Amino acid sequence: MVEGKDLMKIGIVGLGYVGLVTAAVLADQGNEIVGVDTDPEKIEKLRSGKSVIFEPGLDELLSANVERLEFSSSYEKLLSADAIFICVSTPDSTAGIDLKYVFSAFESLRKLKVRKPVAIKSTVIPGTAGSVLERTGIGCVSNPEFLREGTAIHDSVHPERVVIGGIDKENIAVFREIWKFTSAPVIETTNENAELIKYASNSFLAVKISFINEIANLCELIPECDVNIVAEGMGLDPRISPLFLRAGLGFGGSCLPKDTRAILKFSDTMGAKLQIVDAAIRVNNDRVHHAVERIEKMYGSLGDRKVCILGIAFKDDTDDVRYSKSWELAKEIESRGARVRAYDPVLHHASGVEVAKSPEECMKNSDFIIIGTEWNEFRNLNFETPGKVIDLRRLLDVELVDLAVGKHD
Ligand code: UDX
Repeated sequence: MVEGKDLMKIGIVGLGYVGLVTAAVLADQGNEIVGVDTDPEKIEKLRSGKSVIFEPGLDELLSANVERLEFSSSYEKLLSADAIFICVSTPDSTAGIDLKYVFSAFESLRKLKVRKPVAIKSTVIPGTAGSVLERTGIGCVSNPEFLREGTAIHDSVHPERVVIGGIDKENIAVFREIWKFTSAPVIETTNENAELIKYASNSFLAVKISFINEIANLCELIPECDVNIVAEGMGLDPRISPLFLRAGLGFGGSCLPKDTRAILKFSDTMGAKLQIVDAAIRVNNDRVHHAVERIEKMYGSLGDRKVCILGIAFKDDTDDVRYSKSWELAKEIESRGARVRAYDPVLHHASGVEVAKSPEECMKNSDFIIIGTEWNEFRNLNFETPGKVIDLRRLLDVELVDLAVGKHD
């Protein structure tokens, strides 16, 4: 906790990744937090001092600030808050994005006649703050979140930028004050710009990943080519940067796949279809199929083979399997008649996938050992095994593996 700061009481609606991490980080700055979620089981678990998600450092931060964190399923608790963040989920829908939880949260605030500044942290399409104003009469601030799972606390405390969109200067000032401790540059702008900055950022990251994955496909066909060396050479140019140039199985998780689809549909309805984002999605959708085809081309049919997949989560340092490429890989390999067993450092159960207790158990008697998630600890495994080692995340030295993404066969 930070000494000598003015205390604020901050309401957080929606206690998923963004809401819970924001609650913990702002409590650690000395603010009093009231977190509201409509899921009573979640509230009960949080009240008993347990986190509802796996995120490095989150349990510790929640327990260190327990006296400043109150959790409830009652919106009325928000009446005493000085400012409120809306952090509810915005799931996929056939129309692009489903805003029902955002609208219902604001509807609850309207009924309670809440007059305090409210910010939307959930990822929402441009125009959402305007729709909220039309529907409920509440003029809100747009304050998108850029945290990554696995490094969520660091990202919240040390963001590269704070984006605050809105009309009401007093409300904007309240949220500037809340995030002042980060010392990050602040972009103060319209709601619509703030909303689009989030989508444009995630789309750009997705484009970068798909771009390097297409270069990886090309490298696989050129003798003596290796995508990691190509990416290193590209990344030294500061205009390009080395980040998000790691070739592999493609992007998964709850954000990049969903957000690219949502902004693509939105752009289509606006009459300015984002063709590069469209291509990035198509390249990403082909990653698992491309990898499995390549394995079969090299080693023959996977039917009846025993396959160990290392990693099930969508990336390292998380237990999240939403749109996990590794999980998708397990299903694709199984559909070709192979027996799949997976291992993940934090996930001990995964729907529809047999999970081994240790990497050794997973690898034992396997014909193929495939790295599906970029967990750092897989680097230290003993790969002296009769099975073929296939590195689909470019984690290991290429000399150690039989087949690597972005490297000629
Ligand atoms: C992302 C954004 O990074 C974050 O700013 C936003 O707030 C939420 O969405 P997150 O989904 O947690 O964060 O994961 P991220 O680290 O971006 O990785 C997304 C996916 O891309 C993972 O599946 C990862 O394996 C993959 N990835 C990432 C690559 O394949 N190559 C890379 O170089 C980087």
